[in-house]
Amino acid sequence: MEIREAVQARQSIRAFQRKPVPRAVLERVLEGALRAPSWGNTQPWQFTVVGGEVLEKIREECVALASRGVMPEPELAFPSSFDEPLKSRYKGLGRGLYDALGIAREDKAARNAHFMEMMGFFGAPNLLYLHFRREFNHYAFLDGGLILQTIALLALEERLGTCILAVSVGYPQVVRKYAEIPEDQVLVMGVALGYPQPDHPANRFRSDRGKLEEFVRFVGVEG
Ligand SMILES: Cc1cc2nc3c(=O)[nH]c(=O)nc-3n(C[C@H](O)[C@H](O)[C@H](O)COP(=O)(O)O)c2cc1C
Repeated sequence: MEIREAVQARQSIRAFQRKPVPRAVLERVLEGALRAPSWGNTQPWQFTVVGGEVLEKIREECVALASRGVMPEPELAFPSSFDEPLKSRYKGLGRGLYDALGIAREDKAARNAHFMEMMGFFGAPNLLYLHFRREFNHYAFLDGGLILQTIALLALEERLGTCILAVSVGYPQVVRKYAEIPEDQVLVMGVALGYPQPDHPANRFRSDRGKLEEFVRFVGVEG
């Protein structure tokens, strides 16, 4: 797959087949992704890859907490509000996704069902948890983002889909209990990974992007 094609093809997958991913495939993706750049080559990332019965326990408890209305409390707080134009883009994502799923604005039950799907990691057979040592430098966030995107791109070559999933670290006590995240590490992010359900409307949804001029200025660049 060409690089541009892979970047275009990557999208968040929100419906997975339960089919397990062989460990050798997971290792190939992660090993390849270790070439991601990092500040001073510090490679601050640590991953715990979870599947099978362990993931089922985590999934079950997270869904149970969410259905009881327990508020997620991630170890690194979720962003709580956005200014424009980020706010409109954020709202646009929700609208676009609900439209693709055929969920009407006032259909609270269907929205809640989607939320529960998300809390169950969209049925993914694997979760990759990213954690850093507690005393991490904030540059580690850049490094973490770079390796997550690298994972998402390399996953495509294995016909795997990914969804970087902040909600998957919303109940860190559950993740810690079953995934045994080391105590000296802070739980940063989770990535759902597995074979996509190709025909699911959630996976046919394509998120918008702004135009080049919204983000980029050229100064002193010729032609
Ligand atoms: C740090 C981060 C956290 C995210 N958390 C969630 C999440 O909790 N639930 C979800 O459905 N998508 C989540 N996403 C996926 C974004 O919504 C998605 O990347 C964005 O809408 C762009 O769509 P695309 O990935 O399909 O290109 C997350 C993405 C990132 C980078």
